[in-house]
Amino acid sequence: MIRVAIAGVGNCASSLVQALSAARKGPVEGLMRSRIGSWGVEDIEIVAAFDVDARKVGFSVGEAALAKPNCTRVFESDLSAHRTRVLMGPVLDGVAPHMADYPDDEAFRVSSAKPVDVAAALKEARAEILVCYLPVGAVQAVSHYAEACLAAKVALVNCVPVFIASDPAWSSRFAEARLPLVGDDIKSQLGATILHRTLASLFDMRGIRIERTYQLNTGGNTDFLNMLARERLSSKKKSKTQSVQSVLNEPIPAGDVHIGPSDYISWQKDNKVAFIRMEGRGLGGSPIELEMRLSVQDSPNSAGVVLDAIRCARLALDARVGGVLAGPSAAFMKSPPKQAPDFEAQALCDAFIAQVAGAAQGRGD
Ligand SMILES: NC(=O)c1ccc[n+]([C@@H]2O[C@H](COP(=O)([O-])OP(=O)(O)OC[C@H]3O[C@@H](n4cnc5c(N)ncnc54)[C@H](O)[C@@H]3O)[C@@H](O)[C@H]2O)c1
Repeated sequence: MIRVAIAGVGNCASSLVQALSAARKGPVEGLMRSRIGSWGVEDIEIVAAFDVDARKVGFSVGEAALAKPNCTRVFESDLSAHRTRVLMGPVLDGVAPHMADYPDDEAFRVSSAKPVDVAAALKEARAEILVCYLPVGAVQAVSHYAEACLAAKVALVNCVPVFIASDPAWSSRFAEARLPLVGDDIKSQLGATILHRTLASLFDMRGIRIERTYQLNTGGNTDFLNMLARERLSSKKKSKTQSVQSVLNEPIPAGDVHIGPSDYISWQKDNKVAFIRMEGRGLGGSPIELEMRLSVQDSPNSAGVVLDAIRCARLALDARVGGVLAGPSAAFMKSPPKQAPDFEAQALCDAFIAQVAGAAQGRGD
């Protein structure tokens, strides 16, 4: 069993929990890897969960995953196996003030419960890995959970664009504590980032100079609502932009690239729509233009990747490997400490799995 804690039982966590329930009934559609080492998705168990919303705190993880304002597609409605009670986390900067201006069904509503000691709760639950699924801009809250991981000796999968794995001060602390760290900012299975990176690499490989590009994203979930606060957005924009720039031999001048979450459209719910435009120059300066529209369910798209990140972290724990897991971070995250083109990142991740799974087996674990 892989003992997982979740910070933030929002839409992404809901898709994750649904996948765990579905996996116990039979094969789940759309996984990147059915087994990682000896681990299947059905081996993952949620042993602790933290949230701050009154409709989630005190309820079981299964109930919280389907509670408002979550609005992701329900592909598995029987979540009764997930009985762990959601604990009240410290709110800190997790809830943007403008949430109060939106209807209950669309926004966070803070519980009046007293926050728990996160590190103590992780220890008590004997959690092995924490998945951090807090809102964008929650720098203090993400840091608080990262500190709790260090105190409770728990590995961290950081899905949020708050820089932990890519901050040397944090990553060296996880390395010293021999705790696996996968981060930062989850890269969706087939989302705007990986598509934009692939298109940018293709232009580069075929000698087409990219003059200008944008990636506009709209959605109607609380992630998009939260990101209406411009001051919370800077790390998300930085993470998404760097992710695309990093695959190019020569970065596009800052004024000619615009990548970020663009608007909140409530009726879209968890359906994210991305518009990508690329303008380039081919032979003799001949113009080339490309327009693309991607429509996805946002949250399963992230959870599918987290299912692999969790199992890689567990392999590392088994093999006593700590610090940033470079291959998995490059494959699964938008802002790893070391970027790699996606096919290379995939190969690095597979090499990590083969090596670490072998090391753990060699030790008789
Ligand atoms: N495809 C994707 O959806 C995707 C991709 C990349 C990154 N992410 C990131 O993953 C994170 C989670 O996304 P989501 O769509 O599940 O968001 P969400 O808004 O649905 O969920 C966030 C949850 O965190 C809770 N919360 C707020 N403050 C808290 C605190 N201090 N302690 C504990 N819980 C707290 C909220 O009540 C809510 O349940 C976001 O940062 C998002 O940008 C998502």
